[in-house]
Amino acid sequence: MKIISIVGARPNFMKMAPIHKEFIKNYPEVKHLICHTGQHYDDNMSKIFFEQFGLSEPDFYLGVGSGSQAEQTAKIMIEFEKVAINEKPDLVIVYGDVNSTLACSIVAAKLGIKIAHVEAGLRSFDMTMPEEINRILTDRISDYLFVTEKSGIENLKREGVDESKIFFVGNVMIDSLITFLKEADNSEILKELDLIGKDFILVTMHRPSNVDSQEFLEEFFNLLQSFSKTTKIVFPIHPRTRNNIEKFGINVNSDVILTEPIGYIDFLSLLKNAKLVLTDSGGIQEETTFLGVQCITIRNNTERPITVEEGTNTLAGTNLEIVKDIINQRLNGEIKIGKIPEKWDGKAGERVCEFLMRILITNRINKLDSIVIKL
Ligand code: UD1
Repeated sequence: MKIISIVGARPNFMKMAPIHKEFIKNYPEVKHLICHTGQHYDDNMSKIFFEQFGLSEPDFYLGVGSGSQAEQTAKIMIEFEKVAINEKPDLVIVYGDVNSTLACSIVAAKLGIKIAHVEAGLRSFDMTMPEEINRILTDRISDYLFVTEKSGIENLKREGVDESKIFFVGNVMIDSLITFLKEADNSEILKELDLIGKDFILVTMHRPSNVDSQEFLEEFFNLLQSFSKTTKIVFPIHPRTRNNIEKFGINVNSDVILTEPIGYIDFLSLLKNAKLVLTDSGGIQEETTFLGVQCITIRNNTERPITVEEGTNTLAGTNLEIVKDIINQRLNGEIKIGKIPEKWDGKAGERVCEFLMRILITNRINKLDSIVIKL
């Protein structure tokens, strides 16, 4: 049996790694191949993750690089179609909500290849986000939908997806986090950046809706500057954000510690040891909830509501005056006590592979009622 997993952008790699390892460990009958589209290509956005996860080079590297939404999606489709036609996989696994996810799903669907979507069903209900379009369309044409939190099941059912296609397996990204937590404890990054545990703010910011606005970016750096007088702030800068800082000529001559994008293990160490995290990322809302670290999400919506309902995440919106008040509350000890969501237990990858094998090998999809998750 031949399965191809599609990865392309930074948040895909930690979701695919546990599934790849599980196939190697427990399913020798499966030839699991990795196709990297090249959506992210800088070493510190891509290669370092393969190295740290102990993955070999991808079996296929499409090298598409950056471009407009249409250019990037189209290039991935053209290149992946050649791979899919040559390889004739039994199944394609796609992850998350990036352009590579949608592009390869469309190709597979039109070639009649089965598709499994890992991290299905999440919805921000904000169609101005490219990711929301990617999520909805990918789910619509996927055959097997692996869900991380219960909102995903509800969203899919509301959209008319048959229950037999939905599998509540938990969060594969948390599998990676649990696997690498020990290594993160040995990281030297706190020492290198002269930080003390639980005494600094960690910041990430890269959504076009935030960082493509000069006004927002300027105000955001002013906000950080005001807090950096009393609390250390570390901000690994995404390439999109760095490009915009240069393009807008924003003065970042401040006390904020700006770094290049940081590899997985060191970033995990920063996350675990931060007093507070400010972000507009999707995955970081989940990682902080698992770690019990306070998180303020600077967005108007989240596709991961469980991190707010059960976790330590606060959805603050993008009004930076309001964000400032919430930061003050958190720094002054008014914190959110959270709990770890159901099935975020390090075994999601095992469940994905087990379900897939039962479906593909025994073809018993109709008899799977007992494992299709009941609400
Ligand atoms: C993409 C995903 C987003 C995800 C994010 C994680 C989509 C629509 N967006 O956004 O959901 O949260 O990845 O990082 O798929 N660049 C580099 N080097 C790289 C990669 C990108 O310099 O290795 C620069 C380029 O200028 C590029 C820009 O960053 O134009 C944006 O990259 P792109 O992949 O288009 O989108 P992201 O903002 O990274």
